[in-house]
Amino acid sequence: MREDIQEILFDEEALSNKINELGKQISNDYKGKELVVVGILKGSVIFAAELLKNISIPCEIDFMAVSSYGNSTESSGVVRILKDLDHSVEGKDILLVEDIVDSGVTLSYLLKYLKARKANSIEIVSLLNKPARRKAELDVKYIGFGVPDAFIVGYGIDYAEKYRNLPFIGTLKPEVYEK
Ligand code: IMP
Ligand code: MG
Repeated sequence: MREDIQEILFDEEALSNKINELGKQISNDYKGKELVVVGILKGSVIFAAELLKNISIPCEIDFMAVSSYGNSTESSGVVRILKDLDHSVEGKDILLVEDIVDSGVTLSYLLKYLKARKANSIEIVSLLNKPARRKAELDVKYIGFGVPDAFIVGYGIDYAEKYRNLPFIGTLKPEVYEK
């Protein structure tokens, strides 16, 4: 697995420090609110788990699973809901937890989809942001790190369902996905 990585961008310590910072900020911003933390499966699971450990206010946890039609390195813009929220979010404050925002198409679709649920607010926290390829206009309230336009894996993020269990974030050697 490690031999397929070109460069480590963020090691465990950098990730842990950043997520601690995000958790503090979120705990502060959502004080007194009915926070529902919604992890977007599967890419966000490791980030969401670590973030939740750093959120010190009461909150609910839920998950959604979406799939965008397209090949494995580019999303098509057509999003399918594979798993919806378990509970009502009416009057609550949703925080969507995403691994990486690339074109922004997935999340802008999801925001539109969730609008009808009458939440009090919907915001996004993404561990990574790849602004170079943004297609849809999207307001991401909390961002861990910006990343260059390269193929990223690790810490939940996959290529063809692999590399999610790497404890760091790195770039994949192009020859791995150009094969
Ligand atoms: P978007 O709709 O283009 O913003 O796509 C977001 C989703 O595409 C993310 O949640 C990831 O699942 C996937 N994705 C985007 N960039 C990468 C990457 O560099 N490596 C792995 N998955 C990625
Ligand atoms: Mg994803």
